[in-house]
Amino acid sequence: MANIKNILDKNAAWARRMKEKNPDFFAKLAQQQTPKYLWIGCSDSRVPATQVLDLPPGEVFVHRNIANIVVHSDLNCLSVIQYAVEVLEVEHILVCGHYGCGGIKAVLDGGDHGMIDNWLGHIKNVQRLNSEQLSQLDDDERFDKLCELNVQEQVRNVCHTTVVQNAWKKDANLSVHGCVYGLSDGILRELCTHTAHEPPQLR
Ligand code: CO
Repeated sequence: MANIKNILDKNAAWARRMKEKNPDFFAKLAQQQTPKYLWIGCSDSRVPATQVLDLPPGEVFVHRNIANIVVHSDLNCLSVIQYAVEVLEVEHILVCGHYGCGGIKAVLDGGDHGMIDNWLGHIKNVQRLNSEQLSQLDDDERFDKLCELNVQEQVRNVCHTTVVQNAWKKDANLSVHGCVYGLSDGILRELCTHTAHEPPQLR
């Protein structure tokens, strides 16, 4: 059974191991963070940013929500993007979705999930915008495809934030990538990349 004592013990053992390997690790990290990546991913427990990228603490700035959605009125997400781009000066923003995403499945299955359906409405828009393409697929293919299309839509949203647009106007070294992660094989696949010179099309 899960209990808090166990995870605190595990944390203490981890901190000890990290210090054994590199005595200055925490002292140095406490001074500053200089991540080069911003990860915008799903809250799903099976897709932890730093572990999937095999990077240590300090290397990835992270925003996660259900189904990795970027909405232009979400102050939480926009603040993360602004801080990452303007203060930390990250060079890459990764919007990372994953196959088997529960948020996407909830939309495809329909039905009533309560309050969360308001959030999932953003995915319903992606579904509606791509309904013709999606209707030609079988159920499994449609599930995978909507996970991918959602990533591409959210990448478009990231690229059209004022923060990214302004960074690109100043010729910042910033690229935005769409990726999808396979729960069954641990592999991150790149779907698209955009830069100031190759921005995404607005619909
Ligand atoms: Co998910």
